[in-house]
Amino acid sequence: MCGIVGFIGKQEASPLLVEGLKRLEYRGYDSAGIATLSNGTIERRRAEGKICNLQQVLSTTPASGNVGIGHTRWATHGIPNKTNAHPHATEKVAVVHNGIIENFQEIRAELVKNGYHPLSETDSEVVPLLITYYLDQGANPRDAVSKTLKRLEGAFALGIIFAGEEDLLIGARRGSPLAVGFGDGEMYLGSDAMALAHLTKQIAYLEEGDWVILGREHVIFLDENDQEVQRDIKESAMSSALIGKGDHRHYMLKEIYEQPQVIGDTLSTFFNPTAQTISMPNFPFDLKNIPRITIVACGTSFYAGLVAKYWIEQYARIGVDIDVASEFRYREAPMQDGGLALFISQSGETADTLAALRYAKSQGQSILSIVNVPESSMERESDAVLLTHAGPEIGVASTKAFTTQLTVLACFAISLAKAKGAIDTACEARLCRAMAEVPSRTAEVLNHDEALRKIAQNVAEARDVLYLGRGSSFPIAMEGALKLKEISYIHAEGYAAGEMKHGPIALIDENVPIIVIAPMDSNFEKTASNTQESVARGGKVIFMASKEGVEKMADHCIATVTMPNVDPFVAPILYSIPVQLLAYYVAIHKGTDVDQPRNLAKSVTVE
Ligand code: F6R
Repeated sequence: MCGIVGFIGKQEASPLLVEGLKRLEYRGYDSAGIATLSNGTIERRRAEGKICNLQQVLSTTPASGNVGIGHTRWATHGIPNKTNAHPHATEKVAVVHNGIIENFQEIRAELVKNGYHPLSETDSEVVPLLITYYLDQGANPRDAVSKTLKRLEGAFALGIIFAGEEDLLIGARRGSPLAVGFGDGEMYLGSDAMALAHLTKQIAYLEEGDWVILGREHVIFLDENDQEVQRDIKESAMSSALIGKGDHRHYMLKEIYEQPQVIGDTLSTFFNPTAQTISMPNFPFDLKNIPRITIVACGTSFYAGLVAKYWIEQYARIGVDIDVASEFRYREAPMQDGGLALFISQSGETADTLAALRYAKSQGQSILSIVNVPESSMERESDAVLLTHAGPEIGVASTKAFTTQLTVLACFAISLAKAKGAIDTACEARLCRAMAEVPSRTAEVLNHDEALRKIAQNVAEARDVLYLGRGSSFPIAMEGALKLKEISYIHAEGYAAGEMKHGPIALIDENVPIIVIAPMDSNFEKTASNTQESVARGGKVIFMASKEGVEKMADHCIATVTMPNVDPFVAPILYSIPVQLLAYYVAIHKGTDVDQPRNLAKSVTVE
């Protein structure tokens, strides 16, 4: 989760470190800090809260030097205050850390016995203390790091500088990603290529267990056995322009508006416009022979997987098991021989999903991942990968990543159904036609922006909100509730409309808005009846449906959103848009921090 950067070169390090941290702020924003080497001495500046607070500190007390490390934190151990902020340091060494040191208590007890006393509550601080211990024992910096790395358990990425060592910056990776950037007489470290996009396009990624020694003119990669290794330098596609907010007030709104484009970009990797067909790349497994599919993901990506379960079971007639990764990874599920395990992740780094992927691999499954970040851990560890072409998603609440995941999954479901012989050519043609319409229909739905902003006024006053849907609209109801919770802090639940009478209907009164997702599919009449049951109990309904559906229900609802009349197959993609916009405008009405909601971070690389 946290973000780390490192710089060694000729320029002043601190402005470049702060710029890198701003690009990483999506990974956490509980506190931020930097350390530089000024005439061989470690200078440290830290601040609670966002990077702007650190900038304020630096404006009154600058930190000079052209070697440095920086950190933006998402708290795991220890509250988000200045004492717990990184870098953690002794007089000899300063360290930034992303991840968790699982055996920190044992190491801390040993350090205390030896007279090394931590000042913070963090797990991270044992790293500089342990390095200092080895330095005090006579080890040189490289050996001290090597010895320390062998003592650490858990998942981490580290950036380390040493007092008196003006041409030395060390990085290490175990479990958490870390990239090295190459410049002219300068070298950089960053949690991802985005952190370094203002500095270089020449990037090499550390592999699992690697550590790296950087000087201004050299980079030495070492593996977990301290053997020198070569790592490929690649041209990063990340450009600074991709990371801007454009004319939009928030990244989230910009990303919602990018959806027609990025859905189109993603679709075009599978869609043949001449033949109007959809096909997959060659996989190292045969779609025809897959007996069962297991889908694993977290959060919004999990809801994309849940939609895919409906699609795959209905059209390809293959059984799909699905679970959230934090549960799946520990439940020791038996997996069918020859099965396919499908992992969905925007970042490609989510710790639970990655662990689940490794478990599925150990069970002999073929591994297919859908990720948005090329070169991510999941991409590298999978047998096959399908990329969502969403571009960088900076807003913490996922929007365009979700709809591009749905786009990939829909194409996958069609191809699977075809490979299995479960659909005829007429049905295939119908589904492909429906997919081809999605980008322009998405643009049409964005026209509801103003109407949703008005509806949001009602919702912003509520304490609880219910979202209802059936079939493939049920996951969209849950996704809508998640979006609202995370950025407006209003309690919301997504329910299968048919489940209301089994308990949740007791919650309904005139203070609980009910958002109903009701595309014109085979479930429409049943969803409409469930809506009536809620209205009869005083529920204030906001009904999202096509014109025909809206006409049937308008008299019973406080508001309606008229959606394009599309094939029910693609409805989950299109109905995602109004629930995103509604959550966005509720957050605006409430005045919350839309792009960086409290307690959250974009990339969850801890358990
Ligand atoms: C919600 C959200 C999260 C992520 C989840 C998984 O808006 O963004 O629920 O979907 O943390 O992240 P990835 O997709 O990177 O594995």
